[in-house]
Amino acid sequence: MLSGKRVVLGVTGSIACYKALDLASKLTQAGALVDVIMSYGATQFVTPLAFRSLTHRPVVTDAFDANAEYAVEHVELARQADIIVVAPATVHSIAKLALGLADDPLTTTAVASQAPLLVAPAMDADMFQHPATQENLERLRLRGAVIAGPGRGRLASGLTGYGRLLETPELLGYIAYTLGRQGDLAGRVIVVSAGGTAEPIDPVRVVTNHSSGKMGYALAEAARDRGARVVLVSAARALPAPPLVEVVPVATAQQMCDAVLARTPEADALIMAAAVADYRPLSAADQKIKKTGAELNIPLAPTTDILAATLGQAGPGGFVRVGFAAESENLVANAKTKVTAKSLDLIAANDITSEGSGFGADTNRVTLIDRELNVEELPLLTKYEVGNRILDRVARLLRH
Ligand code: CTP
Repeated sequence: MLSGKRVVLGVTGSIACYKALDLASKLTQAGALVDVIMSYGATQFVTPLAFRSLTHRPVVTDAFDANAEYAVEHVELARQADIIVVAPATVHSIAKLALGLADDPLTTTAVASQAPLLVAPAMDADMFQHPATQENLERLRLRGAVIAGPGRGRLASGLTGYGRLLETPELLGYIAYTLGRQGDLAGRVIVVSAGGTAEPIDPVRVVTNHSSGKMGYALAEAARDRGARVVLVSAARALPAPPLVEVVPVATAQQMCDAVLARTPEADALIMAAAVADYRPLSAADQKIKKTGAELNIPLAPTTDILAATLGQAGPGGFVRVGFAAESENLVANAKTKVTAKSLDLIAANDITSEGSGFGADTNRVTLIDRELNVEELPLLTKYEVGNRILDRVARLLRH
């Protein structure tokens, strides 16, 4: 997503500048070309050399630098930028951006650029709450800028409130979202399910599976980064919510079924990446089951097949339905049976025993099988990339 993208990173004078170093580093590692422009205030917190060392590119601090890389630097950077990210953005820099002032290299570049603007405020809670700041942020929003945060927590002043610069992973999510707003899924609603459901045995125990939820989360992020509005029905227990994705937390198969059926009427596509329990304890005990030393049998009842339940909803001209098939043997044959049985548009089958495709991995090797039972074997890819390959198919199906 970020590879080859030209990011102008504006850094303004806040103690949160130290976090911008990490952002510059992660962007560079992701393959982006990062041009940092620092305000005078920012140079009082962190040196330009620190950014230069991380981005391997010149850092702009002076609008009148005779040794600048470009002839008219602010115009060149403004023209080349795919995105301008101001992180951290101080109260003062936000006010200047809102007014279109141009009294330093960053604001001059911003006002000379057509690129989307992402502003990540960092300040004390009272400064953030001030009507002037709120009005300036609203003005930027109305002009199409994306405002990322601020987060809530302990601030440098010692106060607790809204004012913290978002953390790097969140900022990266916002950047990917902002870059992808006009993508091929813009205006589409994609419902994704993720994680392994947990079926209660008693108040302290559950029947569950090894699904981490990573595949579904990667899919949700990939869909967001192509412009979709994403609803993530999640039974994952240990993953942070992806920024700009609506997360609907669930635990059991029945809760997941209810949540999915409630959201699919507005959906263009449903992608069921969740590992849904096929059986649940017939009835959960009200109190903790005590150890007796004797054999214990727990009767199980079948759960509703969620994908199958959406079949009636979809109908002609309905939404695209994509399933996953986690198999330990006869991968293609079993997956083809599921395509037909659940009348799916596409299934992503993965052999859970193959290397790099196990539960909790960041990679996956899947085989795609469509409604006509055509088979495409994908190589080992990151889960985000697998998500994109699935979304290529979804986008194509939605165009027809
Ligand atoms: N699925 C579902 N509702 C269920 C069980 C599964 O919607 N109660 C979905 C899964 O999210 C997945 C697809 O159906 O997208 C296939 O799931 P899988 O567990 O591989 O297949 P099952 O149909 O449960 O068959 P089996 O467990 O016998 O392999």
